[in-house]
This record gives sequence, C-alpha cells and structure tokens, in this order.
Amino acid sequence: MNCCEHCDATEEVFGPEKASRDLKRYAQKGPDKTTELMLSSIRKTKLKDAQLLDIGGGIGVLHHELFKDTIIRAIHVDASSAFIGVAREQDQVHGKEAQVDYIHGDVVDLSSSLPTSQIVTLDRVICCYPDWENLVKVTAEKAEDIYIFSIPRDRWFVKMVIGLENLYRRIKGDAFRAFVHSSDELNRLLGEMGFKQLSVDATLSWQVFTFTR
Ligand SMILES: C[S@@+](CC[C@H](N)C(=O)[O-])C[C@H]1O[C@@H](n2cnc3c(N)ncnc32)[C@H](O)[C@@H]1O
Repeated sequence: MNCCEHCDATEEVFGPEKASRDLKRYAQKGPDKTTELMLSSIRKTKLKDAQLLDIGGGIGVLHHELFKDTIIRAIHVDASSAFIGVAREQDQVHGKEAQVDYIHGDVVDLSSSLPTSQIVTLDRVICCYPDWENLVKVTAEKAEDIYIFSIPRDRWFVKMVIGLENLYRRIKGDAFRAFVHSSDELNRLLGEMGFKQLSVDATLSWQVFTFTR
C-alpha cells in the first residue's frame, strides 16, 4: 500500500461513527490505558506552559487532559477529518479552541510545515503506518524535549490478533492495515537521532516509550 492509499483508508476507518464512539467512551471512562501511561510519563517531566504536537491525535484526549496542567498550546494533526471535527467541538465546549491548531492530512506529507514543540506524541499511530521509519524520522525531529509514543507489543499473540484483523479487513475489501513494528528498530533509529530513552511502560498488549533529547 502506498501512503495515499493509506490516507484514504485511514479516513474511512477513523470516520464519524468511530469518532463518536471514542468520544462516548472518553466521556464515560476517561482516557484509555495507553493514553493514561503517556499522560503520567509526560507529567513526570514537570514541563509547564509547553506546546504539544500531537500526531494522529484522534478526538484530542491528550491535549484535553494536558491543558489542565502542562500545556498552553497544541497542534493537533490527524488524517481523519471526522476525528479533527470531534476534537475541535470538545475544545469549543471547554473554551480552548483558540489555543489549538487543527491540521488535517498525512503527517509525513505535512512535516516540513509543522513547528517544533517541547512535547511530541503519537498514541497508537505508528502501528497505522506502513513506513514507520519515515514517520518516526519526520516526527521525532520536531521534538524539542520529549518524544513519546505507544505501539503494540512485539509478541506472538499481539501479532496473531493484528494478523486476524488484517485478514478480516482484506476479506471485507478494506485497504486499511495495522502493523507491529519492531521496538528494537525504533529504539535504534531514535538513538541514532540523538535521543535517550527515559522510560518504557506497558500493558499486556501495548508499550509506551518516552525519549528525551
Ligand atoms: C488508533 S487512532 C489513535 C487516536 C488517538 N491517538 C488515541 O490514541 O486515541 C490512530 C489515529 O492516527 C491517525 N493517523 C494515522 N496515520 C496518520 C498519518 N500518517 N498522519 C496523521 N494522522 C494519522 C488516524 O486518523 C487516527 O486518528
């Protein structure tokens, strides 16, 4: 799959129905587990009044939460217009819309126009992208202080579940695919770019990596 096909398929999978389901779940239960781990890791850095660049930010849970105590500005990039619409509506409700830039599209295509930020996040995004290396290169270079992401764990049962989901999508004629990229390869690339690993947190099937300059 090339990256244009990826974007079309992403727009379809992360459409209005999924966006309103995610919003309902967030309203009822708060942030998901990987997002909680990322929030806690970001808060441990004690950054204040920071700018967040959230790539594939979905309905905007990271910036909605970090506006409480860590950030004063957010740049919200997403390939799904439905997700951006829901994030913006929530910001309107909370009076934060003027503090957020909403950017629609594939971050790899957009990267040259994106600003650097103290915090750069990708929560469950790298696994949506076929060319992880390019995605990580162009987004990590935007991080002034911390670069933090969640990815599925490189374990047989996680690969099996994602493989079955991809098979189901293929049968349905849906072009979207999820990927389990190697955490060792990701770590190697970030090391080469001059990042140091601050922490690794995990659930049964996800890992959250926090890197600093
Ligand atoms: C699984 S969702 C995660 C949403 C949110 N980060 C969360 O954890 O709830 C993946 C998100 O990444 C976005 N996405 C995937 N590939 C992208 C790309 N290349 N550029 C920008 N956004 C992308 C999708 O549109 C979707 O909103």
